[in-house]
Amino acid sequence: MSMDTAGAPFRLGEDRRTDVPVHAAIAGRYSTRAFAERPVAPEHLDLLLEAARWAPSAFNEQPWRFIQAVQGTPGHQALAEALHTSNRVWASHAPVLLLALARTRLARNGEVNNYARYDLGQAVGLMTVQATLLGIGMHQMAGFDPQPVRDGFALGEELDPVVIIALGYPGEGPYLSEHLRAREHNRTTRIPRSEIVR
Ligand SMILES: Cc1cc2nc3c(=O)[nH]c(=O)nc-3n(C[C@H](O)[C@H](O)[C@H](O)COP(=O)(O)O)c2cc1C
Repeated sequence: MSMDTAGAPFRLGEDRRTDVPVHAAIAGRYSTRAFAERPVAPEHLDLLLEAARWAPSAFNEQPWRFIQAVQGTPGHQALAEALHTSNRVWASHAPVLLLALARTRLARNGEVNNYARYDLGQAVGLMTVQATLLGIGMHQMAGFDPQPVRDGFALGEELDPVVIIALGYPGEGPYLSEHLRAREHNRTTRIPRSEIVR
């Protein structure tokens, strides 16, 4: 079933034109920009972090760390200010901003963990699946200036700020420009399976 729409933004969990029946928690995910003003329920935030927590990782190092900031707090403002303008214009309206960090050294011996970012990505990947199941939209952003984030949150050498994630329940997003609203109504596409595997 294809639901390309000119009017309403498509909903989390909707089919995304896969040719095989991938679960809606995967195929129905999209990077949300239009959020409802409603705050995210604390138990939902806990579920997202719990999903991340159960990701696999090299040596079971679990190098993912998160700083969560809800709208109206200095932390949210600091993360919003660090975003590149193209992201800030919409992401500053997200009910929650989540800073995803990778612990760069192995706890076991202090050596560099070459898989820290890989493992963090898996943790966030699981989080996106749980979010879609809960009807929560997420949007990961690499477009931010890391230095003020490092300074503002006193991260030190061993924590690498990788993405800022905007999240919340999808809504109208009255703050969106016409251009961004149009993008919210369009699905992204994917290269075919035949190109990613041989
Ligand atoms: C590591 C990473 C960094 C990203 N950075 C940005 C960003 O700075 N701004 C933005 O609007 N989207 C960003 N995205 C979202 C991607 O553009 C989006 O995932 C991609 O276009 C596919 O669309 P979909 O997530 O709706 O399926 C990022 C995604 C990832 C995984």
